[in-house]
Amino acid sequence: MSDVKDKVVLILGCAGGIGSVTAKDLASKGAKIAVADINEAKAEDVARAIRNTGGESRVYPVDVTQKEQVRATVAKVAQDFGSLDTLINCAGIMFVRPLIEINTVEWETTVDLNIKGGAVGNRGCSAGFHAPAARAYHQSQFHPRPQSVFARRRGAFGF
Ligand SMILES: NC(=O)c1ccc[n+]([C@@H]2O[C@H](COP(=O)([O-])OP(=O)(O)OC[C@H]3O[C@@H](n4cnc5c(N)ncnc54)[C@H](O)[C@@H]3O)[C@@H](O)[C@H]2O)c1
Repeated sequence: MSDVKDKVVLILGCAGGIGSVTAKDLASKGAKIAVADINEAKAEDVARAIRNTGGESRVYPVDVTQKEQVRATVAKVAQDFGSLDTLINCAGIMFVRPLIEINTVEWETTVDLNIKGGAVGNRGCSAGFHAPAARAYHQSQFHPRPQSVFARRRGAFGF
């Protein structure tokens, strides 16, 4: 991402490692950050840290596997900031063990969050993006290529 000054960036999973570092870096370059995460307390910590260094940031509690919550978050971000330029999806989980040791519940959680969550994020944001240069980025390696192709065809995303 090049010139981010005054761009409105919604980061899903923003309370985590990659999300919070990305948020602080973009905020230091002038972006306005919508800090969205299922962990509201940690999201508040990230937003406070950004505001304490002069940045602009608000918290949006959300479960990315719930499409109505994502849609509502997108609408609220656009309303609060006046626009939405970029989605960065860092919400995800990874069980770092051999596949055979991962149980069904853990696998289903991974699919729901990393794959379905990414798709829900895309769909929610495609309704909220208005700027022609709007972009979406996904951290999860599980995020399927067809989603990226779909998004590119919609013309609203860059990967
Ligand atoms: N592509 C790569 O090479 C690469 C490398 C490292 C990590 N990753 C992936 O990037 C993602 C983020 O990594 P990280 O190290 O920041 O992880 P992390 O665990 O530090 O952060 C994940 C964040 O997602 C949030 N979250 C979990 N479930 C959620 C839900 N249902 N709704 C909203 N938020 C939810 C958590 O609260 C947490 O803040 C993970 O999916 C990880 O597997 C990819």
